[in-house]
Amino acid sequence: MIFLSLLRICLLIAPAVHSAPFLEPAVQADYDAIVIGGGPAGLAATSGLARVRRNVLLIDSGEYRNDPTRHAHDILGFDGVTPAWLRFAARRQISDYGTVDLVNGTVTEVQPQKNNTFFKVLADYPGNKSVSFTTRKVVLATGMRDILPTTTGLAESWGKGIYWCPWCDGHEHADQDLGILARLDSAVTSVREILTLNTDIVLFVNGTDTPANRAITEGKFPGWETYLKLLNVKIENRTLASITRLRDGATPYADPSLPTHPEHDLFEVNFTDKKNPILRNAFFADFPSEQRSKVGENAGVQLYGNKLAADGAGGLVTNVPGIFAIGDANSDNVTNVPHAFFSGKRTAVYLHVQIERENSLAQIAAAGKRDVGEDELQKLWARMNVPSDVTHARERFEV
Ligand SMILES: Cc1cc2nc3c(=O)[nH]c(=O)nc-3n(C[C@H](O)[C@H](O)[C@H](O)COP(=O)(O)OP(=O)(O)OC[C@H]3O[C@@H](n4cnc5c(N)ncnc54)[C@H](O)[C@@H]3O)c2cc1C
Ligand SMILES: *[C@@H]1O[C@H](CO)[C@@H](O)[C@H](O)[C@H]1NC(C)=O
Ligand SMILES: *[C@@H]1O[C@H](CO)[C@@H](O)[C@H](O)[C@H]1NC(C)=O
Ligand SMILES: *[C@@H]1O[C@H](CO)[C@@H](O)[C@H](O)[C@H]1NC(C)=O
Ligand SMILES: *[C@@H]1O[C@H](CO)[C@@H](O)[C@H](O)[C@H]1NC(C)=O
Ligand SMILES: *[C@@H]1O[C@H](CO)[C@@H](O)[C@H](O)[C@H]1NC(C)=O
Ligand SMILES: *[C@@H]1O[C@H](CO)[C@@H](O)[C@H](O)[C@H]1NC(C)=O
Ligand SMILES: *[C@@H]1O[C@H](CO)[C@@H](O)[C@H](O)[C@H]1NC(C)=O
Repeated sequence: MIFLSLLRICLLIAPAVHSAPFLEPAVQADYDAIVIGGGPAGLAATSGLARVRRNVLLIDSGEYRNDPTRHAHDILGFDGVTPAWLRFAARRQISDYGTVDLVNGTVTEVQPQKNNTFFKVLADYPGNKSVSFTTRKVVLATGMRDILPTTTGLAESWGKGIYWCPWCDGHEHADQDLGILARLDSAVTSVREILTLNTDIVLFVNGTDTPANRAITEGKFPGWETYLKLLNVKIENRTLASITRLRDGATPYADPSLPTHPEHDLFEVNFTDKKNPILRNAFFADFPSEQRSKVGENAGVQLYGNKLAADGAGGLVTNVPGIFAIGDANSDNVTNVPHAFFSGKRTAVYLHVQIERENSLAQIAAAGKRDVGEDELQKLWARMNVPSDVTHARERFEV
């Protein structure tokens, strides 16, 4: 028993070493997470993961949904920022953390491996360079693409007088002569969204004022015709031929420290009947959109409508365990920068803890195969119990 007492003494007097034990992760991969897309959602997820030292690669092809707009609004502390500045400021801060890489490139494929325990991500980098990495988790922040009607002049002015949401640019066009570009049923509900900003409103429904669409509209908004009459809102049903810019309302010299400045654009709307064009200062539009990328869908992610199915209770994980969907692309059906931030953060927190949960399960299972305390004692005994030592006691333990 002497040797055991000696062992205990040695353990007591040994200098305390607090080096963190190295425990194997559950899965070996190049990255903890690969974030696909570097808009506000992907950047938010990357920031959340960088702060807890996750090893992250963000791959971004740089086709941002709000790229055409002059200023982004309703982003706390950054109201009126240009989208490019917002991304620049975020990238600069995120790259200060040592465990993240932000790169340009297009992800071409996400291949689930071994029952989704890790993924292979294939990407094309600029200069025809194809790369491939493994990662434990994938975050789809791939965004949506607006499907703009082909009407002459519309695409050129998208985001610059023809705007997408009241919060985006509505205030810049307050009290101006407004047009609403949408199908009848959606144009009528748009009036309620914009009424605190504009009262001189024409609905350009582009031939959709048909009996069938009137019935749909009545279902969505009973009494809509009375409502439009009360507000003196006109319906223009002629088919649009062109929307021509007559004046540019951009405010490049306005004080950038202020959130909002009026933008005095002017447009002429022409119709296929070539009669009586209409002048408007701005348009509030509602057009369809689609997923910017198919990589999620091709990897087996389910779509709800045209959105990537994301489970709010599981950190916005999709039906494919390990693949998350955030930002405009996901089925929260909320499409703005604050949501992109929130959803990115939500996934970052969940994903971080999920990886460590998986690690802990694997580490406990590995440790369960033998008694850790006994093992440490054996190693110490073997070190002390050398034949020349006075305490030599031959094979006390099977080492
Ligand atoms: C004209 C306009 C104005 C807007 N103004 C405002 C505003 O003022 N305020 C506001 O809150 N919201 C505004 N929005 C909404 C806002 O743009 C979106 O909510 C926001 O961009 C969503 O961020 P996201 O990161 O999900 O997507 P995005 O910003 O669209 O970013 C997606 C990124 O993923 C990349 N990507 C896609 N596929 C791949 C792939 N395979 N490999 C690599 N990268 C890929 C794309 O290139 C892109 O960079 C506006 C939208 C529009 C259309
Ligand atoms: C990377 O993408 C950004 C747009 O997001 C672009 O401005 C930049 O030029 C690109 N860089 C390279 C090396 O392609
Ligand atoms: C695959 O993973 C799921 C959980 O994501 C698990 O329920 C299932 O048992 C796994 N299948 C195999 C064969 O390991
Ligand atoms: C990329 O490859 C294509 C075809 O393989 C070629 O036409 C093109 O010139 C290449 N571009 C660069 C930048 O090398
Ligand atoms: C208007 O309708 C025409 C004909 O159907 C179509 O080509 C055009 O894209 C539509 N424009 C808008 C703004 O909806
Ligand atoms: C609106 O235009 C469409 C297509 O040209 C036409 O079928 C419909 O009758 C028009 N509606 C009205 C109220 O004139
Ligand atoms: C729109 O109509 C007006 C008046 O007829 C005409 O002067 C103008 O050239 C038209 N614009 C386009 C783009 O056709
Ligand atoms: C989002 O819309 C789709 C249909 O387009 C629907 O299936 C899904 O349930 C919606 N999500 C939420 C959170 O309402």
